[in-house]
Amino acid sequence: MKKYRIGIVGATGAVGQEIIKLLEKREFPASELRLLASSRSAGNELEALGQTHKIQETTPESFKDLDIAIFSAGSENSVKFAHEAVKRGCVAIDNSSAFRMDPSVPLVVPEINPQDLDTHQGIVANPNCSSAITLMAIYPLHKRFGLKKFYASTYQAVSGAGAIGPISLDQEVTEMVTGAPPPNAQPSAFPHPIAFNLIPHVDQFREDGYTKEELKMRNESRKILSLPSLRVSCTCVRVPVYRAHSISINAEFSDSVNLPDAKQALSNFNGLEFVDNPEDMLYPMPIYSSEKENCHVGRLRVDHAADNGLALWVTGDQLWKGAALNAIQIAEEMILRNCLRKII
Ligand code: A2P
Repeated sequence: MKKYRIGIVGATGAVGQEIIKLLEKREFPASELRLLASSRSAGNELEALGQTHKIQETTPESFKDLDIAIFSAGSENSVKFAHEAVKRGCVAIDNSSAFRMDPSVPLVVPEINPQDLDTHQGIVANPNCSSAITLMAIYPLHKRFGLKKFYASTYQAVSGAGAIGPISLDQEVTEMVTGAPPPNAQPSAFPHPIAFNLIPHVDQFREDGYTKEELKMRNESRKILSLPSLRVSCTCVRVPVYRAHSISINAEFSDSVNLPDAKQALSNFNGLEFVDNPEDMLYPMPIYSSEKENCHVGRLRVDHAADNGLALWVTGDQLWKGAALNAIQIAEEMILRNCLRKII
């Protein structure tokens, strides 16, 4: 079996660490692993794929002789280095929002639009975490009933804010329980208390009152589903959950909906598990989606406020399906489609 030389930009970060875990778990065919981060981490050692690796500072030359680099070090570093990778013949799979809406960059969830990979020009974008998990539940219903529009409210875990997110929650819980902050407490990742609270504010506000995160749901859904006029309204909320995002969805369709067909479409979709048995109190919950490759969907109902509408609830590990796993699946799909080398 052919093996590939792979780099991780942001290897020390929250998503980078999950990429390392998943490469191992999925037995990714790697002949070389290059762990890249900032100059702060250069020289430190990390265990990965059964070996000790020295972390290297990311420079344009870091991408020489690599086949694939997965970027998880924020938009600024993606903008700075992704084209440098491509110049050196390396495909850049980018977790940041830097290139997602660039028409020349495929934005891909491999279960939904793998064919978009065939036209890549070196950079492939990974969707926003909430968008990816939401679309895992919406796409099978769209195929069956034809999506017209949807409303979504997200319940986003603190680890979505980077490695500092869970640290902030821990510090606040300690302070509330003991009456004093822990020694060496760091500045919080959030603008308000997150422990025992909900913050209806993820990413920066725009002039129209939506946040950038909320617009990602609309714009990325349009691109991934190839529905350029799709109407989407979204509210994003940060919740005191360590890991895995949840999304409440109300979707309206062109065809008349029925629950047996909806259930069948969701149950048969790769990467999704249908968990919906109210009698036994079985429904998706973030704690049970943490460190799971599949997303979980349930609470399926006919929407009482829409003409052909369905209400549902989906949970998924945002560090996995919303980032690290989806990026690795993109690499695996590119290998399968033999389109890695098609760099123009
Ligand atoms: P470092 O640990 O050296 O700062 P998170 O989102 O969890 O905060 O992680 C951010 C990731 O991005 C870390 O791996 C971090 O590395 C990396 N990073 C930050 N700045 C740079 C940079 N200038 N070049 C490459 N990687 C960077």
